[in-house]
Parts: sequence; C-alpha cells; structure tokens
Amino acid sequence: MGVERVQEIANFSKETIPEEFIRTTYEQPALTTVQGTVLEVPVIDLSDPDEEKVVRAIVDASSHWGMFQVVDHGIPHETVRKLKEVGKAFFELPPHEKEAYAKSPGSQSIEGYGTKLQREVEGKKAWVDHLFHKIWPPSEINYQFWPKNPPSYRKNNEEYAKHMHGVVDKLFRCLSLGLGLEGNEMKEAMGGDNMVYLLKINYYPRCPRPDLALGVPAHTDMSAITILVPNDVQGLQACKDDHWYDVEYIPNALIVHIGDQVEIVSNGKYKSVLHRAKVNKEKTRISWPVFVEPPSDLEVGPHPKLINEANPPKFESKKYSQYCFCKLNKTPK
Ligand code: OGA
Ligand code: NI
Repeated sequence: MGVERVQEIANFSKETIPEEFIRTTYEQPALTTVQGTVLEVPVIDLSDPDEEKVVRAIVDASSHWGMFQVVDHGIPHETVRKLKEVGKAFFELPPHEKEAYAKSPGSQSIEGYGTKLQREVEGKKAWVDHLFHKIWPPSEINYQFWPKNPPSYRKNNEEYAKHMHGVVDKLFRCLSLGLGLEGNEMKEAMGGDNMVYLLKINYYPRCPRPDLALGVPAHTDMSAITILVPNDVQGLQACKDDHWYDVEYIPNALIVHIGDQVEIVSNGKYKSVLHRAKVNKEKTRISWPVFVEPPSDLEVGPHPKLINEANPPKFESKKYSQYCFCKLNKTPK
C-alpha cells in the first residue's frame, strides 16, 4: 500500500478535515491573515527599454519584499496556458496512473509524484500533493518522472523550459548590476549555464476548512530564484513586516521569489521571501513553481567582490547540496 494522497482524503472530507491537517492557532490562516488588504507586490515590466529603471525596480523589490511579479516577460501566454493544461490533466488521471510516477520511499531524489511523507515539526500535514521533475539542463532530465499522459505533456513542458531562459538571464543580469557587479557575475556565481530548473506542480484539492489548514506552511525557497505561475485560484501569501497578506495575482504575470541562494550571494542585500499558501473551499488550486538552482556540487557563498573589512560575510559558503541537507534536516547553518 502506498501513501495516502490528499486528493483522495479530500474526496471523503465533506465538512471536516482529519486532525493532522488542523494548524495550531499560530498558523491558522483565518486567525493570522491581515484581512481586507491584499499585498500589492511590485509589478515590473521586463520589456521596458530603460534598463536602469528595471534594475532599480528589481533591486527595490528584492531588498524590501523578496518578491515581485513580472509582466511583458517574453514567455508567450499560450506557452503558459499549455503548461497548465497538461499539468492539470495529469492530476485528473485515475490514481493508479499517477502512482506510476510515485517517488520511491527510500529514494534520495526529490523527483516524482508524491505527498510529503514526514510530518512537520508540530506533527502537522500540508493539504497538497505534488509532482517534481527537472526541466533543464537536458543532461539532468529524468524522463521517467515526466508523465506520458497527456501525450503533449513533454512537448508543452519543453516549450516552457526553452522560453524561461530569456527571463532567467534578464533577472540575474539586473540582480547582478544592482549589486554593482558585471551583468554576468550573479549568474556565474550560481553555476552559469549549468543552473538547474526544477519544476514542481502543487495540487491543492478543495478543502472544506480552508480557515484551519495550509497548503504549504511558511518557508523561504532554497533556490536562487523561483518563478511561479498559478491557476486562477488565489492563495499565495507573503509575510511582510511580521504580518501575513494575500498576494494579488496579475493576469499573465510570473511571480518571482528571491530564494536563499540569492540572499547569500548578495550577502544579505536581497532577501528571500517568507511565504505560504492557503487552500480554497470551492476550487482546486494549482501552482507551477520552477526552482532555479545552482548545481548540487557548486559551492555558494557571499560574492567575493561584495566582501571587505567593512562588509564581512554574513553567511557561510556551502555546497548547494549541503545547504539543502542542513535546511531539510534543520541542522544549524
Ligand atoms: C512552493 C510554494 C506557493 C504556491 O511550492 O514552494 O511556495 O502558491 N508554493 O503554491
Ligand atoms: Ni515556496
């Protein structure tokens, strides 16, 4: 017998939810969200020919929010629509077809279909199932974790990956210039063209008690940056000045999160954003974050050009794999 999927639990949860999904009062979204305010995270037009203006906007957003949305980003809307269509179709397959892609319990790899096995520290579970697989570079791709059904799954995901490079390069260039570095230096510090794009699909089924449960608890992403597209169901929340706010979706925008590795390379000038996800009573939420990460054996630390006597390093340098291991096992950094 495999693991119980939240999608199955949701099918028989009509009015209540199992106790392990009920958050403590410190976490329950109904009690901890600032009501009546949606957070207007900065919206940045990536096609603006005034590069200095774009750099200023990205620096400001990355230093104060750790999150922003980009529009006119160059990824065709149709490419995004097709990515979402096939991801949704995969989760709507019968259970046994999805289980063919299940992550094996002993596996070290994060890739595959799954539900978080271990409970979190307080013994709570998140209301979500997911599928993880890498989409770039080709040498890192394991097609065994890419659904064969729907048949256009592979083509649509490859098309999305291909179009992402323009956005990723532009974002790293601006982040780099904003630190007073050469345009390519931030990307190089993350592994240059060997950076890995890890796609995750979060599938948050309808939940009878969205006031009590969370789709994803509060966290910062371990990646360098994360580029996320949601379906049309709101639910992403960001923590700003110690309060939780709903993030407003802008149609066709990409949501960018600054991850831990950019915070580290920038020696703390840019901040990784603390965020979480709510679930919805009537509708299934789905989101597609792509974690843009350094290769696992690359050592990442504050950029040497940013360090001097007045600015000592605020972070230890670590191999990315080591960083992830420490964070997931909660050993000190
Ligand atoms: C994540 C995440 C948010 C969302 O998967 O890391 O933060 O809106 N997801 O699904
Ligand atoms: Ni996240």
